[in-house]
Amino acid sequence: MLRTVYVNGRYVPESEASVSVFDRGFLFADGIYEVTAVLKGRLVDFEGHAARLHRSLNELNMHLSLNDNALRDIHRQLIDKNALQEGLVYLQVTRGVADRDFAYPESQTPATVVAFTQQKPIIDSPLAERGLKVISLPDMRWGRRDIKTVQLLYPSMAKMEAKKRGADDAWLVESGLVTEGSSSNAWIVDHDNTLITRELSRSLLHGITRRTVMQLAREHDMKVEERGFTIKEAQNAREAFMTSATSLVYPVVSIDQRPVGSGEPGEIARALRRLYIEASLEAMDAGQN
Ligand code: PDD
Repeated sequence: MLRTVYVNGRYVPESEASVSVFDRGFLFADGIYEVTAVLKGRLVDFEGHAARLHRSLNELNMHLSLNDNALRDIHRQLIDKNALQEGLVYLQVTRGVADRDFAYPESQTPATVVAFTQQKPIIDSPLAERGLKVISLPDMRWGRRDIKTVQLLYPSMAKMEAKKRGADDAWLVESGLVTEGSSSNAWIVDHDNTLITRELSRSLLHGITRRTVMQLAREHDMKVEERGFTIKEAQNAREAFMTSATSLVYPVVSIDQRPVGSGEPGEIARALRRLYIEASLEAMDAGQN
């Protein structure tokens, strides 16, 4: 089935959706994006994603004429037009079209805005059941990973390297400490059941799922510590897991071929995943999405 896609104010069949070859997103990766999960045809944590989009726009001096209500409306229309029950809405904003020049135009060019849906099983995810094997790789990305840009070549290479080595994903390491996963935030659970995830900085993306998991954990009297950890500490932890909009919480069962804990998906990761799904569905029933 052909999807309906949003391009610069129009809803068009995906076969007709296109942007200019002069778009700075295409030529310079001069663009940012957001991925919002959809469960039961409703958006999960939309406010957080919209807020982070504005933060990314600000940091890059990019301008977007759509406010949050308009953005939400685009998301909802795409969900409806594509009868999406479970999966994601991808939104990308680039600086727009200009003659190729490293310096971007000082005057505001109209941003290019593209959005589309993608189906994905999230609640009944086979990966959540079996847990992920991860490898560690050096973090070779740029120094502003807090901005959600479309410069995704290194994460994409990291994921391919993981696959080549029979694993599912990579955790990235800088100065001896894990920054985050190739497209997720990284967590461990120590032997006192304290959850540990790296503190926010320019070195990692400020995950929306990370934030909600942290809130849920604290509401359920779990301790959370924000600090960096080594691969060795993670391998010796009771549990490890990762968070992102499209995975919610995925248990990690091995790191560089060493089993974490029992080598099976951990109880706390599974519980947090359950709590996340319950809380999202409750927020929907309360009409918050
Ligand atoms: N990625 N860190 C990185 C590098 C990411 O790319 C992502 C999300 C996260 C988790 O952020 P959030 O919880 O807000 O999704 C952390 C998305 C899902 C993607 O690129 O598809």
